[in-house]
Amino acid sequence: MRKSLIAGNWKMHKTINEAVQLVTAIKRELADYKGADIVVCPVYTALASTFDVLMDTDIVLGAQNLFWETQGAFTGEISPVMIKDAGCEYVIIGHSERRKYFNETEETVNKRLKAALAVGLIPIVCVGETLEERESDKTESVVKSQLEGGFKGLQSIDVLDVVIAYEPVWAIGTGKTATPEQAQNVHNFIRQWVKQNFCEDTADKMRIIYGGSVKPDNAKDLMSQDDIDGALVGGAALDVGSFCSIVKNCTISL
Ligand code: PGA
Repeated sequence: MRKSLIAGNWKMHKTINEAVQLVTAIKRELADYKGADIVVCPVYTALASTFDVLMDTDIVLGAQNLFWETQGAFTGEISPVMIKDAGCEYVIIGHSERRKYFNETEETVNKRLKAALAVGLIPIVCVGETLEERESDKTESVVKSQLEGGFKGLQSIDVLDVVIAYEPVWAIGTGKTATPEQAQNVHNFIRQWVKQNFCEDTADKMRIIYGGSVKPDNAKDLMSQDDIDGALVGGAALDVGSFCSIVKNCTISL
């Protein structure tokens, strides 16, 4: 049985004080919650302070990106070791906003993924098609090439803990959610891809989560699908009430 994973992607929101307030409120609501693994991904500047608030709970931290080198003359970048040092257990890789605005490619996703695994971070690798690609029936081919490029050179043993987030680009921050059936179809496609390219055991154990306008009122229907194991939540993760309600709605897949 795969345990649900709910990750809040805060994107470029919240100062240190605001972030501390938000995790303090989340902690009050969810510190003892066992029904799902809970991850929050604040901006880099708030990682250390939010870690201090969460350190005595099961709620863990994730970063929103990393660079693949360990250290060196790479102004403005942050390494896997530094992210771990700040208290992170997870890291988001290849989010569509990074692909769109910061030239993220399959090749750089692959480098980041390998670098994250090398230090024991759990990567959340994002894939997903644009509206144009969906409307021209290219969803599966786009997702397939993102997976092929992103996971190149890795073996089953490497990827057991990796999380894949299916995030249709047209559903991110738009209020449009994939229907549970649309999402389930792609999640199943991804699981079959993992089975063919790694092994059945890896495919059975791997968590594939959905992202794209997840809200308290649609979380339950999405999470009740066989191959949807949790959510990557953007906008709704910035509000304590909606984030906690999404987390609690996900117990259904336990
Ligand atoms: P959203 O963002 O929930 O605001 O659509 C999801 C994401 O980008 O991870």
